[in-house]
Amino acid sequence: MTQFICQPGGSIRGELRVPGDKSISHRSVILASIAVGVSQVTGFLRGEDSLNTIRAFQQMGVEIEREGGRVRVNGAGLNGLRAPTADLDMGNSGTAMRLLLGLLAGQPFDARLVGDRSLSSRPMQRVIEPLQKMGAIIESETGGRAPLQVRGGQRLKAIEYDMPVASAQVKSCLLLAGIYAEGETVVREPAPTRDHSERMLSGFGCEVVSADGEIRMRGGQVLRACDIDVPADISSAAFFMVAAAIAGEGEIRLQHVGVNPTRTGVIDILRMMGADIEILNRREIGGEPVADILLRCSKLRGIEIPPELVPLAIDEFPVLFVAAACADGVTRLSGAEELRVKESDRIQVMADGLTILGIDNQVQADGIVIHGGSIDGGTVDSHGDHRIAMAFAVASLAARNEIRIRDCANVNTSFPGFAELAQRAGIRIALDAE
Ligand code: S3P
Repeated sequence: MTQFICQPGGSIRGELRVPGDKSISHRSVILASIAVGVSQVTGFLRGEDSLNTIRAFQQMGVEIEREGGRVRVNGAGLNGLRAPTADLDMGNSGTAMRLLLGLLAGQPFDARLVGDRSLSSRPMQRVIEPLQKMGAIIESETGGRAPLQVRGGQRLKAIEYDMPVASAQVKSCLLLAGIYAEGETVVREPAPTRDHSERMLSGFGCEVVSADGEIRMRGGQVLRACDIDVPADISSAAFFMVAAAIAGEGEIRLQHVGVNPTRTGVIDILRMMGADIEILNRREIGGEPVADILLRCSKLRGIEIPPELVPLAIDEFPVLFVAAACADGVTRLSGAEELRVKESDRIQVMADGLTILGIDNQVQADGIVIHGGSIDGGTVDSHGDHRIAMAFAVASLAARNEIRIRDCANVNTSFPGFAELAQRAGIRIALDAE
């Protein structure tokens, strides 16, 4: 096991580029694998989650070469995947498991998806149920948990589906199954969620129509190879945004960050709290908006987080809770029950850690109330959740004493090299074996 040991204080400065977007990295390999022709991906995230996705497609016979962040995928075409000879191990990644389940539902062969302890306890019924409506045959453990066994050779029929949860993973899973289904797949979302799948499908030449919360796509469309430049992950950049906001002094420029409007809730929330954020050099690269983000330290105030921003900042709440802990006044979050079924129960695990660090908070079924205060030191447990580990490392900038964070190895799932980059930026972090 790995732990972070963070000395209190420090300032934040410099210019840095965080690793590639995890959501876009997964999708680039998935779509390139079933496209016709060779796709080149640059800026690919070398994290364990996205590397597992590469491995899964290699197991299904796709020729994929990787050198650092450059990935070359020789697409097998819509019907060119081969039966894997072993289980497909998705590790810690809910995105990989849910998206692959959709794709596998329409294949002529059987496959079995497995994951680590955290992933094996996460809800999969939300994708199994609509896939079964399309005609898929999937067996799961009790309560719709992984391992998941998919029976191939089923003829899928497109469905119209009103998603009960605002989940880009469910939407993307159904679109991937929809490629193999007869008819037009229609997915309606209760609130906007990240739209990387729709954008990338269009980039691969597939017609997808999105309007008023409804996404429509005809089955059987051929995907044509295309090159993808993966922007830096705004979810990883968020740690440095909050770091710059709460550090006593300094400023940071984050380069080439994906600023797709379905992902920028963290910027809106931090600005409402009083953060000084400038978005510079906006441009569009491969169908995704990209910009540099400049942040200066500022006094934050507690706010009521607007519920419509929750899906647009869903992965950033652990570090936003740290911002709330450093703010003047009270921050209230509601409508965020989804946080309980992420890599850990992010409401409870963050609340436990904040309490240890002396921050008064009240847990609620669908959110939390955090009273801004003074962060002390102590030993907190990340429960193997990468974003919790990194959030508490950021908290050390405003702490009065050392913070030890346990069970941090999974930081490599989304942000390899975090400790080194954080150190360079001014966080007093060291890695240690537990
Ligand atoms: C993701 C969607 C989100 C997010 C996850 C990545 C994706 O999950 O939390 O880290 O790539 O589609 P939900 O869509 O289930 O909220």
